[in-house]
Amino acid sequence: MVTVVIGTQWGDEGKGKVIDYLAENVDIIARYQGGANAGHTVVVNDKKFIFHLIPSGILYPNKICVIGNGVVIDPVSLFEEIEYLEKSGIDVEKKLFISENAHITLPYHKLLDQIEDKFRGKGKLGTTGRGIGTTYTDKFARIGIRVIDFVDEDVFMEKLKIALELKNYLFKEYYKEEILSPEKIFKEYEIYRKEIKKFVINTSLYLNEEIEKGKKVLAEGAQGTFLDIDFGTYPYVTASNPIAGGACIGLGISPKKIKKIIGVAKAYTTRVGMGPFPTEIKDQIGEKLRKIGDEFGATTGRPRRCGWFDAIIVKFAGIINGIDEIVLTKLDVLTGFKNIKIGIGYKYNNKVINEYPFNSKIFSNCEVIYDEVDGWDEDISKVKKYNDLPENAKRYIEKIEEKIGIRITKISTGSSRNQTIER
Ligand code: IMP
Repeated sequence: MVTVVIGTQWGDEGKGKVIDYLAENVDIIARYQGGANAGHTVVVNDKKFIFHLIPSGILYPNKICVIGNGVVIDPVSLFEEIEYLEKSGIDVEKKLFISENAHITLPYHKLLDQIEDKFRGKGKLGTTGRGIGTTYTDKFARIGIRVIDFVDEDVFMEKLKIALELKNYLFKEYYKEEILSPEKIFKEYEIYRKEIKKFVINTSLYLNEEIEKGKKVLAEGAQGTFLDIDFGTYPYVTASNPIAGGACIGLGISPKKIKKIIGVAKAYTTRVGMGPFPTEIKDQIGEKLRKIGDEFGATTGRPRRCGWFDAIIVKFAGIINGIDEIVLTKLDVLTGFKNIKIGIGYKYNNKVINEYPFNSKIFSNCEVIYDEVDGWDEDISKVKKYNDLPENAKRYIEKIEEKIGIRITKISTGSSRNQTIER
């Protein structure tokens, strides 16, 4: 049985906490796309962990974590994470498996990502600069380096030289940057090549065998539906498929194995980087959300843009992901707001639009039609039962449910595991 957890907005919905919470009842937690652009925050016993690559289930002593073939792996970031976990007394060896087929992010990917975004000028995407798009570009251009190539010194050197021939031409002739030496990269990454070996297996075979044995797998999506390369606000998207369908490709499992899809939605909306965001609040209310919600990127530290809950996009996320239930996060952040708005439609050229438009001209320039509920002042961070929530908070939750057409089964009211209300 495989359950997929996905983001229903622009990432940063609180998937790290939700996955950590759900991980208790599964055997294996598997990441299927993205790379070190993600920043999944988990707080256990007041200690904060930020995971970029390793699945958020690693904190449990008896769970297996898998980094699937759909992920792009920056070895520097991976080993920083492993070192931090081990220093914190968390055992990683024998609990982490890495796919042979995942692609490796190397220095030229990071450098190119940063330079390219600068060169885009007005078309700047505001990427995380972690070499994500450039690693996926090489994967599709068939000059990428997979984990299985990386651990073989002859193959790695050969492929590195081929990739750098083209990149160095770009660096030198076009971007007027210094060229990179394959020998230097080879030497610098020697330690990672040796260290990564013990984690590398055929993860697709492993996962299928374990599923066959009846083991429970949680497939962990990074980013969110509207950062999806196909369904997001293109071109202001990431370079992979965070949607539920991405789990099959990114792990090598059949769609027939997926039994449940859980969507994570923040009780308001945030977005990092460029791109349309109709319900964005540009005044002091947005500032207040950012401050109370601590809305700063877990990977880059950039302030997140904040806005009201957009029911139209979450409804669309429900459709294309096939979401069975929603976990609503950070509801506590909305305490103290006098009125709380929910985007329920858009208006463009005097026409009402009730669906998420792929046309970015419309999505960037539309006006939002809002519904509104009264806020609450009570502290909800210690509430354990749904019925003990303030009436207005329940009204807000039920209004969202009505607009997105999906049941909200869990409500998160703080970063700790026990700040989760089961409904
Ligand atoms: P990239 O994934 O670094 O290529 O960045 C593309 C866009 O996705 C940028 O707007 C990033 O801010 C955004 N992005 C990438 N990863 C995350 C994430 O984990 N949370 C939120 N936004 C992200």
